[in-house]
Amino acid sequence: MTLQNKKIILGVSASISAYKSAFLIRLLVKKGAEVRVIMTDAAKDFITPLTLSTLSKNPVLSAFSEGDQGLWSNHVELGLWADLMVIAPASANTLAKCANGLCDNLLTAVYLSARCPVYFAPAMDLDMYRHPSTLRNIQSLKDFGNIIIDAEEGELASGLEGKGRLAEPEHIAEALELHFNTDKQLAGKKVIITAGPTQEDIDPVRYISNHSSGKMGYELAESFRNSGAEVTIVSGPVNIKAPAGVKVIRVRSAQEMLEATARDFQESDICIFAAAVADYAPREKAAQKIKKKDSEMFIELAKTPDIASEMGKVKRDDQLMVGFALETNNELEYAKSKLERKNFDMIVLNSLQDSGAGFRYDTNKITIADKRGRVVAYELKSKELVAQDIKAYVIDYLGL
Ligand code: C5P
Repeated sequence: MTLQNKKIILGVSASISAYKSAFLIRLLVKKGAEVRVIMTDAAKDFITPLTLSTLSKNPVLSAFSEGDQGLWSNHVELGLWADLMVIAPASANTLAKCANGLCDNLLTAVYLSARCPVYFAPAMDLDMYRHPSTLRNIQSLKDFGNIIIDAEEGELASGLEGKGRLAEPEHIAEALELHFNTDKQLAGKKVIITAGPTQEDIDPVRYISNHSSGKMGYELAESFRNSGAEVTIVSGPVNIKAPAGVKVIRVRSAQEMLEATARDFQESDICIFAAAVADYAPREKAAQKIKKKDSEMFIELAKTPDIASEMGKVKRDDQLMVGFALETNNELEYAKSKLERKNFDMIVLNSLQDSGAGFRYDTNKITIADKRGRVVAYELKSKELVAQDIKAYVIDYLGL
């Protein structure tokens, strides 16, 4: 992969992690990109323009005008020049400005003028990151079609532990490379993604479910959409807003998920089964709330339909099916047998033995095994980057 001749604007805002921008520039330049850096004034307290101009081989810009000779940096021209803009680190303040159309510095004015895709890599302390205003601003930016490279988890400069660290420069560079290398390669492809948990009713107020957040499925939807695919999510109940331009069919039970998936399956080119479907459901749903008694109670459970297996039975050769497996032991072996049994073309294994991977985490560590016998293990990454890896694998598998 390469960034050869790509014109990239790197925006640097004020964060202790601004030192990582230096590493990011080196990586981008090494991969062949032409990089122009725009810093906010406050960012200069964290890293000098001289460092970034030397590494990027271009003057660093931060003011609308320089000196007293009437020279000015034309934000419109800069916005049009770039093939891609990435703001890394994106501070809470810069995110808030961009999400609300403020443009009181060169960086935010260029953002408003840019017609190219814009990536944000947020970095801030734990509580700032999870403040509702920051979360809302990030969501607004996503709704505008911008792409967020999620902050990573770990020790923060304040000493607090949690989410907020700027994604590693290698991960950011990789995301940008994938952007160019998979750009619109899935145009015209119809993709169905099952996501989230299912809820199986016991009575009108109780149900059986699981901890699936749906995050992996929604990240996949966003990533496939970014490459031009027409994406439908068949979603169990989750607390995630649908990515712009993605159709969401909301369901609750495994049976409803099966019906919704089956309806669109024949038309689809790629079907990804990322939902954590309940394996059992109460044989009968009580019409009234079940009354508490002194004695024990038993609920008889019946097997739910296996959506992936059902689709696997009617799958055509020109359709691609991707399954997920979450195993605790003999992982790869079980995953491979599931690949065969459910007629998947590839299976994404996420192991519960890896800390930070699986349900409710924002990160995941996967291994992909395919029908052709290839097995690829990946590092622990944010689910967004994991989604990009899965997409890149699919594109490669299809020879696109
Ligand atoms: O058999 P197991 O639940 O481990 O298989 C996991 C894979 O099968 C996942 O891709 C999951 O979305 C899919 N599946 C399904 N319907 C079920 C159970 C699992 O589509 N009832």
